[in-house]
Amino acid sequence: MDLSTTYLGLRLPHPIVVGASPLCDDLDTVRRLEDAGAAAIVMHSLFEEQIARERRRTAADLDAHVDAFAEASSFLPQPAEFRLAPDEYLEQIRRIRAAVALPVIGSLNGVTPAGWLDYARSIQDAGASALELNTYYIASDPAEDSASVERRTLEIVRMVKRAVTIPIAVKLSPFFSAFAHLAAALEAAGADGLVLFNRFYQPDIDIVELEVRPHHHLSDPSELLLRLRWLAILSGQRRRLDLAATGGVSQAADVVKAVMAGAHAVQMVSAVLRHGPDHVRVVREGLAHLLGELGYESIAQMRGCMNLARCPDPGALERANYVRVLQSWRDPGGSA
Ligand SMILES: Cc1cc2nc3c(=O)[nH]c(=O)nc-3n(C[C@H](O)[C@H](O)[C@H](O)COP(=O)(O)O)c2cc1C
Repeated sequence: MDLSTTYLGLRLPHPIVVGASPLCDDLDTVRRLEDAGAAAIVMHSLFEEQIARERRRTAADLDAHVDAFAEASSFLPQPAEFRLAPDEYLEQIRRIRAAVALPVIGSLNGVTPAGWLDYARSIQDAGASALELNTYYIASDPAEDSASVERRTLEIVRMVKRAVTIPIAVKLSPFFSAFAHLAAALEAAGADGLVLFNRFYQPDIDIVELEVRPHHHLSDPSELLLRLRWLAILSGQRRRLDLAATGGVSQAADVVKAVMAGAHAVQMVSAVLRHGPDHVRVVREGLAHLLGELGYESIAQMRGCMNLARCPDPGALERANYVRVLQSWRDPGGSA
C-alpha cells in the first residue's frame, strides 16, 4: 500500500505528522515518535511575546518603560511560562535534527508584522525543513475591521516569505467571515500551505470564586467535522496550497476522511498525548489496512475524492444541507 504524500516540499512516507505541542521538548519522546513511524514533527510555537521580551531585556530598557507598559506587561506571559527561551528553541531544533532523521517543522506564533519575524530565518538555519506561522488572535478591538486583521496576516506571510527559502504554512482559526477569499490571498502572498484549524483555549467562569478558569482540553473527534468542510471546499479551489488538518484526528478513519476531503497531511496531538507515541504506529497501520479494505491502492488515488471541486456553489450546497439536517433531529439514526 502506497501511503506516501507530499507536504510543504517534503516527501513523506504517509500523511501522519505530530502537530505543534510539548511532544518535541524531550528527545526521548521524539525518538519514540520516530520509532513509531511519525512522518514529521512540528515544534511547539515560539511566541512573538517571548521574542519581544528577550529583545527588550537585551536592550536593558525594561525599567525605562512608562506605567502603561507596566500595566500591559502584567498580563503578558512571564518567561517561566514559556517552555524554551528563543535560543533554547533553536538549540532544540538542532538537537532533534542530530538525533533523528524525522523532518522538523518550526512554528512561530504571533500577530504583528514586525522584527520578531527575523526568527523565521534562525529557525531555518537551525535545520527546520518548513515553518508553520500560527496567527492566534481574537479581534476584540471595535475600531479594527476584518480587512485590517487579514492585511496583517498577509503582511506577516510576505515578510516571512522574503526571509526564508523553506516552505511556510499558515495555521489559522476558522473565525474569518470570508475564509475562501483569505485562503486565495494567502496563496497569492506566498503561503505554501494552510493548517486547519487553530483551537482557541476557552476559559470557563468559576461562579463562586468569580474567577476565570483557563483550561486546555484535549480535543475530541467531533472537532474534525469543521476541518473536513473547509478541506473539501479549499482543496477544490486552491491547487497550489498544501492542506493539513489539525483538530480531532485520532484514528485511521479520521485520516481517511481528511485525505478524502483533500488533506495532504494530518496532524495529531491530543491522541498522542492520550495514548503515547506508539499511537502513531497504530493509526498508520490502521490506515494501510483501511485503504485496502476500501479498495484504494494509494493515498494519492484517494486524495480529494470527496472534495467540492465540481460543486459550482459550495455555499448553496451548504444551505441546502443545513435545511435538510434541521429536519433530521427526529431520526438520530440519520436517514438525512
Ligand atoms: C498541550 C498542547 C500544546 C500545544 N501547543 C501548541 C503550540 O505551541 N503551537 C501551536 O500552533 N499549537 C499548539 N497546540 C495545538 C495543536 O498543535 C493542535 O493544533 C490541536 O491540539 C488540535 O489537534 P489535536 O486534536 O490533534 O489535539 C497545542 C496543543 C496541546 C494539546
